[in-house]
Amino acid sequence: MNTSIINDFKDIVLGRRSVKNYDPHVKISREEMTEILAEATTAPSSVNMQPWRFVVIDTPEGKAKMAELASFNTNQVNTSAAVIAVFADMKCFEKADEIYGKSVELGYMPEDVKEKLISAYKPIYENLPERDMRDIVLIDAGLVSMQIMLVARAHGYDTNPIGGYDKQQIAEAFGLEKERHVPVMIISIGKAATEGRPSYRLPVDAVTTWK
Ligand SMILES: Cc1cc2nc3c(=O)[nH]c(=O)nc-3n(C[C@H](O)[C@H](O)[C@H](O)COP(=O)(O)O)c2cc1C
Repeated sequence: MNTSIINDFKDIVLGRRSVKNYDPHVKISREEMTEILAEATTAPSSVNMQPWRFVVIDTPEGKAKMAELASFNTNQVNTSAAVIAVFADMKCFEKADEIYGKSVELGYMPEDVKEKLISAYKPIYENLPERDMRDIVLIDAGLVSMQIMLVARAHGYDTNPIGGYDKQQIAEAFGLEKERHVPVMIISIGKAATEGRPSYRLPVDAVTTWK
């Protein structure tokens, strides 16, 4: 059982550091990883399309394949319990009927609202230029990625978001369609063996204007 559950929101947020070196003996069960992903996928998304798709790389074979694509980030891949590869599905709207149908079934939304929303958004989504669609799904997948990192902390684990890997190869390497699944980031997850370093933040004044 995982005994390191943290429930203090400030500690979760302010104590997060990118961790580059993990205790290789610590594994995360698929049951707990499923819980982490289920909690993280409460993230908001554009018209609730939830375009995030995950590949959880937790086997020695998967890790070896990921390490080859991970450029200067092989230590995180090799020592972590798992690497979560986050993708954004350019055809996320295919799940619209399922998402809205379930919302009606569960009593979250009346049928007529579902029909209205689907008929309003379907033509928009189906005709969006690829670049606009990409922007939408990347924003949504970025939000879920952040939630993964915070939920991981609540489960007592550390993470590192990683953009330094072979984005040309990763989808096909793990059996996804390259044109459809846009790589977002990979996230290593496990127990820190070496604490992450604190990092400087620009003061709020430098990044904010008030009107
Ligand atoms: C999209 C993205 C890509 C990143 N890529 C890498 C990477 O390739 N390798 C790495 O060690 N850290 C990577 N980082 C981690 C950042 O360096 C780190 O978040 C930043 O320095 C702030 O430190 P902190 O996460 O400990 O607060 C990435 C972070 C983000 C958000």
